[in-house]
Amino acid sequence: MNPKLLNITPELTERTAAKADTALALLRRIASEFSPATFANSLGAEDMVLTDLICRHQLPIEIFSLDTGRLPPETYTLMAELDRHYGLKLQVYFPAAAAIEHYVRRHGINAFYTSVELRKACCHLRKVEPLQRALAGKRAWITGMRAEQAATRGQLAEQSFDESNGLEKFNPLADWSEKEVWTYLKTHAVPYNTLHDQFYPSIGCAPCSRAISPGEDIRAGRWWWENPESKECGLHVKR
Ligand code: ADX
Ligand code: SF4
Repeated sequence: MNPKLLNITPELTERTAAKADTALALLRRIASEFSPATFANSLGAEDMVLTDLICRHQLPIEIFSLDTGRLPPETYTLMAELDRHYGLKLQVYFPAAAAIEHYVRRHGINAFYTSVELRKACCHLRKVEPLQRALAGKRAWITGMRAEQAATRGQLAEQSFDESNGLEKFNPLADWSEKEVWTYLKTHAVPYNTLHDQFYPSIGCAPCSRAISPGEDIRAGRWWWENPESKECGLHVKR
C-alpha cells in the first residue's frame, strides 16, 4: 500500500485509536512488569508506531537498532530524524567486524544472492549475533511484527516466551492491519522511511529489499529470489 493513497475514514480512525490504546496499555505493563525491556526497531512503518508510543509517553523501554552495514541511505536519514523529532538516541548494534571480513573474503560481497544458506549466514552475522548482544541482560523484548505480514507469521502471539533467547517476547501490533498502521502514522504526523512512498512496504537491507507492484504480497520485495517459506532472517525463528 502506498501511504500517500490511504483514505482515512472515521471508522478507521476510531478503530486505530482503540488499538493504539490497547498497545499503549501493553507497553506500560511491559515497562512495569518486565524491566529492563527493549524494543527492536528496524525503522519500518510498524516500528515507527511503537517508537512514537514509547517516546511520546516517555516509557522506560530501551530502543535499539541492528545496523547491518547494508541498510538503505533512507533508513540512516530516518535514524537522524528520530533524534531531531523525539530526542531519541537509538542504541545501535553493529556486526562483529572480523566475522564479516572473514565471510566476505571467503564468499564475496554479495554472496547472499547465490544460495539460501549463504543468505542465512549473512543474516546470522549481521543481525542474529548482534541481536543476542542487544538482548543480553533484558527480561523482555518487543517487536513490530504483525500476523498479516507473512506466511511465516500467521500464528503470531501478542506475548510468548522466546526460548531461543531466554526472555519474554511481545508483539503489540500482532493484530494490526497495514491500513491501521498508516492511519496511526498519518494521524500523529510520525516521521517515516521515505522508501514507503516508493512502494516498499517492507524494508530491510538495501540489496535484499525492493519495491513491489500493486497487488503483490507485502513481503514480495524481501529476498524476492527465495520461496515465501524461507523468507525470515533468523531474528524471529527458533534456533
Ligand atoms: S525480518 O525478519 O524480515 O528482517 P522485518 O523486517 O519484517 O523482519 O521486521 C520484523 C521485526 O523485527 C521489526 O518490527 C523489528 O522489531 C525487528 N527488526 C527487523 N530488523 C531489525 C533491525 N535491523 N533492527 C532492529 N530490529 C529489527
Ligand atoms: Fe545480509 Fe541481506 Fe540478510 Fe542484510 S538482509 S543481513 S544483506 S542477507
